[in-house]
Amino acid sequence: MKALVFLGGGRITSAIVAGLKLARYKAPIIVHDRHPEKLRELQRTSNVDVEPDLSRAVKQAHILLIAVRPDSVDPLLEQIGEVKNPTLGVSLAAGIPLAKLRGRLGTQVRWARAMPSPVSRVGRGLTALTFDRGIPWPAQREVSTLFAQVGQVIEIPEKQFDGFTVTYSSSHGYHALATLAKAAVGTGLDRKTALLAAAHALADGIQAWRESGMSLENLLQEAATPGGIAATVMDIMDADGYAKTVERALKAGLRRSQQNAKK
Ligand SMILES: NC(=O)c1ccc[n+]([C@@H]2O[C@H](COP(=O)([O-])OP(=O)(O)OC[C@H]3O[C@@H](n4cnc5c(N)ncnc54)[C@H](OP(=O)(O)O)[C@@H]3O)[C@@H](O)[C@H]2O)c1
Repeated sequence: MKALVFLGGGRITSAIVAGLKLARYKAPIIVHDRHPEKLRELQRTSNVDVEPDLSRAVKQAHILLIAVRPDSVDPLLEQIGEVKNPTLGVSLAAGIPLAKLRGRLGTQVRWARAMPSPVSRVGRGLTALTFDRGIPWPAQREVSTLFAQVGQVIEIPEKQFDGFTVTYSSSHGYHALATLAKAAVGTGLDRKTALLAAAHALADGIQAWRESGMSLENLLQEAATPGGIAATVMDIMDADGYAKTVERALKAGLRRSQQNAKK
């Protein structure tokens, strides 16, 4: 059986591999990285096979996941050269378009892009996929099925990839949690209670939106009595430019992503 091969054994690989193991994924998983200590750690935590030799790793791949940082993609592909076996290349690199991948590694490699989430670690990921033209349907299904092991999968047009990337990051949730809890400590709550209260506000509230089928507007109305405390808090957030800040932040993220495409 040909393997799922990760090139790059860093953060996202570690999360996906843990999620795949949790899902009892059957195909062999091989990770290559230039840091032997990262490979040892992955072996210890997720019991995956590791291959410190790049060309031996690539030769075993049926699906080849490019999981290095965007700046490292080009040198890595240079290093690999040409792949002789039919292989599905899936790049996780933010901002690097299919146009820059197409034709790399020779004619045997067909390309897709994936934007997976580190929450894949616990099987609650969300992965956006986009496929290069001409990728046969069964190959597309293989890639979708792989990421479906670790959470929800959506296919979106490539032109939406940067927007998805700046929006879906679980860092937003962690950042909001940290910010809300810090402000809560400022009101006199101890840190543990502050985190509990803030996590309820964010995670349970959003879960209720997912599960209840109610609209966001109705849920907002239910949770914030007009003129009440929650409404007062939201009014100040809005008046102080909360929406504008988020908008500006996402636009900065988009520009950062677009820089990767130009390199
Ligand atoms: N982290 C996320 O949540 C996330 C989510 C979606 C997509 N992504 C994408 O996934 C990619 C990886 O992100 P990451 O956060 O996992 O990065 P990371 O933690 O830095 O892991 C990348 C690993 O690949 C190694 N590497 C780079 N070039 C190599 C080469 N030529 N041969 C062997 N190993 C090499 C790196 O070593 P060095 O440190 O020496 O370079 C590093 O150990 C990025 O392109 C990112 O846009 C990440």
